[in-house]
Amino acid sequence: QDETPLKKLKDGILSKEQKHTFDFDSNKDKSTVSITVVGASGDLAKKKIFPALFALYYEGCLPEHFTIFGYARSKMTDDELRNMVSKTLTCRIDKRENCGEKMEQFLERCFYHSGQYDSQENFAELDKKLKEHEAGRFSNRLFYLSIPPNIFINAVRCASLSASSAHGWTRVIVEKPFGRDSESSAALTGALKQYLKEDQIFRIDHYLGKELVENLSVLRFSNLIFEPLWSRQYIRNVQFIFSEDFGTEGRGGYFDHYGIIRDIMQNHLLQILALFAMETPVSLDAEDIRNEKVKVLRSMRPLQLDDVIVGQYKSHTKGGVNYPGYTNDKTVPKDSLTPTFAAAALFIDNARWDGVPFLMKAGKALHTRSAEIRVQFRHVPGNLYNKNFGSDLDQATNELVIRVQPDEAIYLKINNKVPGLGMRLDRSNLNLLYSARYSKEIPDAYERLLLDAIEGERRLFIRSDELDAAWSLFTPVLKELEHKKIVPESYPYGSRGPIGAHYLAARYKVRWG
Ligand code: NDP
Ligand code: BG6
Repeated sequence: QDETPLKKLKDGILSKEQKHTFDFDSNKDKSTVSITVVGASGDLAKKKIFPALFALYYEGCLPEHFTIFGYARSKMTDDELRNMVSKTLTCRIDKRENCGEKMEQFLERCFYHSGQYDSQENFAELDKKLKEHEAGRFSNRLFYLSIPPNIFINAVRCASLSASSAHGWTRVIVEKPFGRDSESSAALTGALKQYLKEDQIFRIDHYLGKELVENLSVLRFSNLIFEPLWSRQYIRNVQFIFSEDFGTEGRGGYFDHYGIIRDIMQNHLLQILALFAMETPVSLDAEDIRNEKVKVLRSMRPLQLDDVIVGQYKSHTKGGVNYPGYTNDKTVPKDSLTPTFAAAALFIDNARWDGVPFLMKAGKALHTRSAEIRVQFRHVPGNLYNKNFGSDLDQATNELVIRVQPDEAIYLKINNKVPGLGMRLDRSNLNLLYSARYSKEIPDAYERLLLDAIEGERRLFIRSDELDAAWSLFTPVLKELEHKKIVPESYPYGSRGPIGAHYLAARYKVRWG
């Protein structure tokens, strides 16, 4: 028992890659994985899914026997799919090496089948082709639903009834949005469960696959110095900040139906918050981690209208260039009230976090692209240096910043003596900049998530009760915003967002980092 690969993996004896090789080696010639990208002609498939699959192939993380099928309504031959896919594949892993040969080998394993999403017959044709490639081996099947949400259920019904694996596992990766409120999300879950068991459903939140988000638990639970500080006793507030320096560009039609709160806060930022605030899980098993995340979400107060401000970007001319406003997008109604920016204050009513504001800020068309967690610590009680030296650092507190992207880094702002004969303090950073410390390029989130789905590792996927808890925090305020037709504060394209965000933070004596 002690010698099982899983036990060794848990004990840190086997790396994930070794485990992977072990698993597939032991089944060599016996099993195959067929990956079907449903909606293969679309933006996400081209931009993220195929490149991630190629990177996994390049790294030797895919099993010996695998086949990738693209499935969509567009008419395409296998070669046309390969041609389309090849345009977005890059040699990101080792830029010095010409990975052309690997690309050719990868593309040879990619095929295409054209079909409707609601046709069992078309999925049965796909099943036939998959079987030919599986060549009698023990077959496992992964379907990645990279399609608009209104066709999820039909696609799941047809795939599960006509193209499930006969003897291996069948798993389905579902992309967000998982509904647009508690009711529609519950309806989606209910409909999916008519055809799939919960353990076959892999709900993606790609932020959970980002390196620095995965590292959050390592930082907290494997460094003695952080965990004792991780509570209301030492932490004054925590900020989760997402900003993009471009607008909805081409996705206005989708975005207008959802808005920034549903697009970013209810999922990406809330997931990070849950990982940040959860108690120590019993183990690293998926269920233990997800149990702790659900507890945090269920301890939170539903967001109040007073604790939210919303904004929408307007056109702005800078350096002779005119940047369009949100409602200039042809796919967006001229009178749209959909927020492209929001700031919110959330609270966790439990012993660890009582009274600590958890602030979120998310916006499109801002001055920069970044995602960060900022932890602001309390003041040093009776601070000797503020009192005795009237330092210009008056009230400067420690701040821990986890920069998720770009330029991944973890840094801690400390007060430090400026070298010299006098006694002057400044604020310096203890800085772990990933590009300086680690030479290996960071994998894209989709690579990690796809590999986990193939391996059946659910830790980074959203469980249905987590989803329910997340929606119940945001649904009331989303309905109120819509019902009261709250007009978003406008902000110029490329700015720092609406001033209201500062007032909201000031109400809780917080300054945005
Ligand atoms: P697309 O709009 O590009 O749609 C994917 C494919 O679905 C299209 O190529 C089209 O294929 C088919 N399709 C599109 N609209 C319809 C329709 N109304 N009825 C039937 N089929 C349709 O989506 P994306 O690739 O951008 O996104 C896929 C999923 O991933 C969505 O759920 C999206 O919300 C989510 N997502 C996307 C992100 C992105 O960056 N693009 C980021 C995060 C999530 P065909 O006509 O050939 O059948
Ligand atoms: C998606 C949102 O989930 O995340 C997009 O739908 C957003 O609106 C994207 O642009 C941001 O992801 P990333 O990985 O580029 O930060």
